[in-house]
Amino acid sequence: MSLVSLIKDVAPDDRPTVGLFDSGIGGFGTLRAMLRARTPSWGRILYLADLRNFPYGPRPADEVRRLALAGVELLAELGADLVAVACNTASASGVRAGQVEAPVPIHDIIRPGARHAASVARSTGATRVLVLGTEGTVRSGAWEDALREAGYGHEVAGWACPFLANMIEQGRNGPVTRRAVLEATRGLAAVGGGPAVGRVSGAGSVPGAGAAAGSERPPDVVILGCTHYSLIAPVVAEVLATTVLGRPVRLVDPSEALARDLEAGLGRMRASGEGAGGFTGEQPVEVVFLTTGRKEHLEGRARALLPGAAGGAAHRLVLDRVLEVTLPKGPSGP
Ligand code: DGL
Repeated sequence: MSLVSLIKDVAPDDRPTVGLFDSGIGGFGTLRAMLRARTPSWGRILYLADLRNFPYGPRPADEVRRLALAGVELLAELGADLVAVACNTASASGVRAGQVEAPVPIHDIIRPGARHAASVARSTGATRVLVLGTEGTVRSGAWEDALREAGYGHEVAGWACPFLANMIEQGRNGPVTRRAVLEATRGLAAVGGGPAVGRVSGAGSVPGAGAAAGSERPPDVVILGCTHYSLIAPVVAEVLATTVLGRPVRLVDPSEALARDLEAGLGRMRASGEGAGGFTGEQPVEVVFLTTGRKEHLEGRARALLPGAAGGAAHRLVLDRVLEVTLPKGPSGP
């Protein structure tokens, strides 16, 4: 049986289908937001985790771009009407609308996330924004660029947290996760000789280089610029507030903004007569899981982290048939 028929078999393809791409489980934040939205925009979600190539953070940008684009192609082949690139590192590598040729529209997480963060900064008067992300994301300066595009004109610092996504992907809990967050962010307190974050350019803020001291005050807004961090947002907030920065900060999780952006994108497609129709929103949303790695890992993490994994009326997580796939070979394939 072909993969397309296998997927049709578990979830009918007569509904608007969103492909959701991440290097691992990080995209669960966006998935949760999509399931919470209870919108008739999507009837079927194909979640693809490129676990074979995880982590993306330390990889060169052109390699990440090739892998993520191959993931987008696979999702399109399997029936996605559009694809959400939930992974910040992939989005930062250039896998976003207007930057790459793709068979279906792409929605990256950084642009809607930056629009949301800019509006939070505007409404709270924030003038210091800190972006926590992987090495690749911070090095790219993509968040800084997107924040400028969104009209935010004040300080932005990037801070890379190597290995943090790995800990979260593995599902380490409690004190281990807290220690990992502390390790990853501890250096922030040393910048400027106290709990301060300076203004840095993306290129200067690779791990080890730290952020150049420029301001003596901690950030007002912290962006969770890696999908994995969103999954432990309360721990990040607690560690920053009590230990690293010494005061509460406003955390911005871009997952919700991506879910809203997708809904708008599907709405536009519907209005122009593109994409699948026929979904009333009364049937449960079907979520099919695919991975380039081991299916047991994705299944286990989904059961632990997703609402309604044990069954629910509004959506059906197809966890008894997680599919192992390979990325297509080709110009953008591995
Ligand atoms: N999920 C990825 C992101 O949002 C990070 C994990 C990785 O290094 O692959 O950047």
